[in-house]
Amino acid sequence: MGSVTGANGSNGGLAVVLAAGQGTRMRSTMPKVLHPVAGLPMVCHAMDAATGAGLSNQAVVVGYGATDVQAAVQSRFPAATFHEQKERLGTAHAVLAAKSVLQKASGPVVVLYGDVPLIRPETIARALAALKSGAALAVLGFHAENPSGYGRLLMDGGTLLAIREEKDASEEERRVTFCNSGIIAFGAGHSLSLLEKVGSDNAQGEYYLTDVVEVAREQGLQAVAIACSEAETMGVNDRVQLAKVEELWQGRRRDALMVEGVSMTAPQTVFFHHDTAVEADVVIEPNVVFGPGVEISSGAIIRAFSHLEGSQIGPGAFVGPYARLRPGTKLEMGAKIGNFVETKNAQIAEGAKVNHLTYIGDATVGAAANIGAGTVTCNYDGFNKHRTEIGAGAFIGSNTALIAPVTIGADANIAAGSAVSKDVPADALALTRTPQSNLEGMGKKLRARYAAAKKSKG
Ligand code: UD1
Ligand code: MG
Repeated sequence: MGSVTGANGSNGGLAVVLAAGQGTRMRSTMPKVLHPVAGLPMVCHAMDAATGAGLSNQAVVVGYGATDVQAAVQSRFPAATFHEQKERLGTAHAVLAAKSVLQKASGPVVVLYGDVPLIRPETIARALAALKSGAALAVLGFHAENPSGYGRLLMDGGTLLAIREEKDASEEERRVTFCNSGIIAFGAGHSLSLLEKVGSDNAQGEYYLTDVVEVAREQGLQAVAIACSEAETMGVNDRVQLAKVEELWQGRRRDALMVEGVSMTAPQTVFFHHDTAVEADVVIEPNVVFGPGVEISSGAIIRAFSHLEGSQIGPGAFVGPYARLRPGTKLEMGAKIGNFVETKNAQIAEGAKVNHLTYIGDATVGAAANIGAGTVTCNYDGFNKHRTEIGAGAFIGSNTALIAPVTIGADANIAAGSAVSKDVPADALALTRTPQSNLEGMGKKLRARYAAAKKSKG
């Protein structure tokens, strides 16, 4: 991601992220900002963007579900500070909850929203650049098709005169379609002095963050508006908007990966996790879903209808169609996982094949081993998990149960239909089937017997 920073990646700036709201319309016991987009809480997306723009200090204003929000954010941003807003008296009041860090801030301060997760570092960087060219305030705005509900940006040429909340706006002001995204950047030294002069004499009796624009102008300071896309500053208030934001995030990620050299024949059917790492020259077929922690190396092919999580896919490996790769799966170069195969905590070495209808769990499969259809590693006895080790070049016949713990030596051969509970030495043939007996001429007699039984029943 783009960054506008010096060699150390930081501009000494501070992000204040508002995350105090409950989000009533989510109809959830979980605080709104913890609802995930691409598997990551919304508030963390906003904070990632701040980090990407070089804002190395991060303060989060919490309220509803403060303990949960803090716990979730801290695991990703251990240096973030948390500030409780006890009463919800407006957006300026919320920012001032972080007064202790505003006092210490030596660089720019950017106010972000925990429920506006699609903001990009590049866009925050544009606001920071405006501060560098002399503005005391830079507000991100967008041209809305339907501006109702938003604060309006009242402009005079390139200068921002004021932000008017809908409830306080005149007829004429309401016709303005250039809207306040809510995201505001303060030049160094200006945040606290401007915020502390904001009053609550307005239609809602709230301390409006937006009033800092007029306060700044009264002091002869310059305020500017920076236009960005409406989609990027979309806020989430309900689950319909959450799904919309997810869709936009996925679209953005797919496009970025294709630009980086990943092929997708039906990108709109492929769903990434926020941390999915895909190298160039990977092909992803339709209807593939990625959970957390997947890394795919160049030349691998992920075929249709596969589900992957916690897995490393080596160069030139094949997955699917219809494969399920669970956490701890590692495929080395050119390994093959075929249809209706499930793997978990399984290391599959170079060129090994697990092509059909198989479960490989808590196991290692050696290089170039071949696992026949219907092989099951019986790894769980109802209490404990046990390991299966399969040596390089081993051949496991179809419908084999490998009853762990068990080790199959290199180049060993397991006859189809075996239930293997004892270790098999290298190069041995293991057979556990009951011997077959053929009763000559029994076919016709058997059919006559069954027909008679049916007839006697009427
Ligand atoms: C705000 C802006 C408006 C802008 C809009 C963009 C103000 C006064 N208005 O309006 O110009 O167009 O966002 O979506 O800033 N919050 C707190 N504590 C509070 C109040 C709010 O943490 O006391 C948080 C909310 O949880 C939310 C964010 O701040 O995440 C914005 O608050 P909200 O009430 O949604 O403001 P809007 O009326 O939408
Ligand atoms: Mg709002």
